[in-house]
Amino acid sequence: MPSARTIEVVANAADLFHTAAEEFVRVGRAAIGAQGRFTVALSGGSTPKALYSLLAANYASFAWNRTFLFFGDERHVPPTDAESNYRMVNESLLTKIAIPAENVFHVPAENPDAAAAASDYETQLRQFFELQPGEFPRFDLILLGMGPDGHTASLFPDSPALDEQSRMVVANWVAKFNTHRITFTFPVLNRAAEVMFMASGADKADMLRQVLEGKFEGKTTPPFPSQRVQPSDGKLLWMLDEAAAAKLSR
Ligand code: 6PG
Repeated sequence: MPSARTIEVVANAADLFHTAAEEFVRVGRAAIGAQGRFTVALSGGSTPKALYSLLAANYASFAWNRTFLFFGDERHVPPTDAESNYRMVNESLLTKIAIPAENVFHVPAENPDAAAAASDYETQLRQFFELQPGEFPRFDLILLGMGPDGHTASLFPDSPALDEQSRMVVANWVAKFNTHRITFTFPVLNRAAEVMFMASGADKADMLRQVLEGKFEGKTTPPFPSQRVQPSDGKLLWMLDEAAAAKLSR
């Protein structure tokens, strides 16, 4: 049974990042209050950079020492590369907050063997969450974006990782980029306590209408990867600005 989903639309990008930062901190404080720690998987791409900068600027006193940061996906490049999601997060957030280095788990994408990097990261997840065989980690919060083709994390349409049901992290071959991406799989995304999508700008409007309102009767599997994010026992929140939500029927 797909989880209940909430779509929150705010006026503009600035409001989007403020509202997303408040939600990040709200979920964080609740998790730390309940469990003593806050586990988060960050998203990459361009959209969340402003959120990370805002968290650094407005929430420096947040309990970063109780916060554990992972990455939902990574490009197959070293952490110093301009394409690296880790580098983007490091420059916009990590270098500006007091978070212990051991609380940040970057994907070892510097490993030329993408599959080895993925299984290494899976081992890190298994150890950190003290998982039994067959168990998946339950993140308090997973941040996601959506690409114009409906992909999320690095789960692209027609890519091999879409149907992965036993591994947590895989090296996914993305033909259109002629490279691997290292990405969480749907079982990890759908095990989260909360998933927060952020989308901003008119260039996302068409795909958002298809992803959020598109019908796929008769098809067991939704056509777009972002539609397959349905936490089995968690909250699904879509945070949009007006430009991105412009084509939704409201
Ligand atoms: C990545 C992301 C990816 C991203 C979407 C949206 O590594 O690129 O994890 O899934 O969220 O491509 O990207 P933008 O935010 O740049 O539109």
